[in-house]
Amino acid sequence: MASIIIKGGNKLNGEVKISGSKNASLPIIAASILSGKKTTLFNVPDIHDTQVTLKILRYLGCKVYKNHDRIEINSKYIDKMEVPESLMREMRSTVILAGALLGRFREVTFSYPGGCDIGARPIDLHLKSFKKLGINIAEEYGFIRCSCDKIVGADIDLDFPSVGATENIILASVFAQGKTSITNAAREPEIVDLVNILNKMGARISGEGTNVIEIEGVTKLHEVKYRVMPDRIEAGTFLCAGAMAGGKITNARTEQLIPIISKLEEAGCQIEKDNTSVTLQAPKRLKAIEIKTMPYPGFPTDMQSIFGSMLSFAKGTSIITENIFENRFKYLQELKRMGAKSKQEGNVAIITGVKMLTGAKVKSTDLRGGAAMVLAGLKARGITEVTNIEYILRGYEGLETKLRKLGADINLVQE
Ligand code: UD1
Repeated sequence: MASIIIKGGNKLNGEVKISGSKNASLPIIAASILSGKKTTLFNVPDIHDTQVTLKILRYLGCKVYKNHDRIEINSKYIDKMEVPESLMREMRSTVILAGALLGRFREVTFSYPGGCDIGARPIDLHLKSFKKLGINIAEEYGFIRCSCDKIVGADIDLDFPSVGATENIILASVFAQGKTSITNAAREPEIVDLVNILNKMGARISGEGTNVIEIEGVTKLHEVKYRVMPDRIEAGTFLCAGAMAGGKITNARTEQLIPIISKLEEAGCQIEKDNTSVTLQAPKRLKAIEIKTMPYPGFPTDMQSIFGSMLSFAKGTSIITENIFENRFKYLQELKRMGAKSKQEGNVAIITGVKMLTGAKVKSTDLRGGAAMVLAGLKARGITEVTNIEYILRGYEGLETKLRKLGADINLVQE
């Protein structure tokens, strides 16, 4: 089992190049299934979750060529409409493949998806939406089988602006008969990126980035070359590392970072930004703040644990309300091993900042919870060992390498 060992206390300084977005890459890779042709993607991060998705595509019959961050997918020869259970369990976002396979072949079989244990994570909104598009759903022996003769455009009103359900509806209805309209759609930038590539392939989708998205069915898509957007959560993670010790990030889309940047400013950081880079000057000591996670453009739930870790050093009492995933406070128990002070009441965490944490052996409780531990270790006194780092490897490309380049004393150790 590998772990990450950090000797805390080093100042960080320098520039970090942000990798391609995990959450945009996954639906975009799924979109390549739709065309039946070649899709060339640039800026795809080399992380466990993209590796698993590409493994499934190969299993389905796609030809996949990978050269660093450039990936070529030819989906012409797909001959299976079933996502294997073992791979499906490795990550939740494989559910996105269902929408793409349905869109192209009107048939798919998959099991309930896996992923981080950050809450119930049901897929009822996905299935309800598929039904609205005329897709029949049968559940048997833990498998979900979806099929229909044709997909017919429909008006779908989501009970909650679910990112995954919005993406699945878009993918399933690109070839639908007539128009599909999604109201209360998710507005996340990753959805805009998905729509951008689909429209470049010949789809007719509008309203992305707003809460009403319309998809006018088309009959075919063509080859495309596309560059995936930078990862705004990775950018936010490095900004928080900088907020503890100073630094600059580049290759980010600054407008997507506004909810994160404004909270960092509230905590006392000085920030300069242009379109693609952000420079952050950390204060002597951060100030306590209040955070409520919300769908985009609100404060992202994926940044909640990273901020929680950072705020355990802030002066005063911070209050964090988690409105999206109920299990996203597990990391607080681990932080307590390092001397952090917090208490949780339902979906609210109250963090009383301390001047210093002490290094300890702590585990990653999920992907972002793992990154939160690494950040705490950067600032803590002494040695921190972060275990269960397979969570971190799912979503960060070379987190420890990038931090080392900035001056951190950090190593990934294989046992
Ligand atoms: C995506 C992101 C994840 C991020 C989340 C919220 C990917 C691969 N993952 O996850 O990093 O934290 O958006 O920004 O893009 N829900 C239901 N029924 C459903 C679907 C969702 O009740 O059918 C609920 C969930 O339990 C959760 C909320 O809706 O409480 C938001 O989930 P959703 O937006 O769907 O998140 P994901 O797409 O899974």
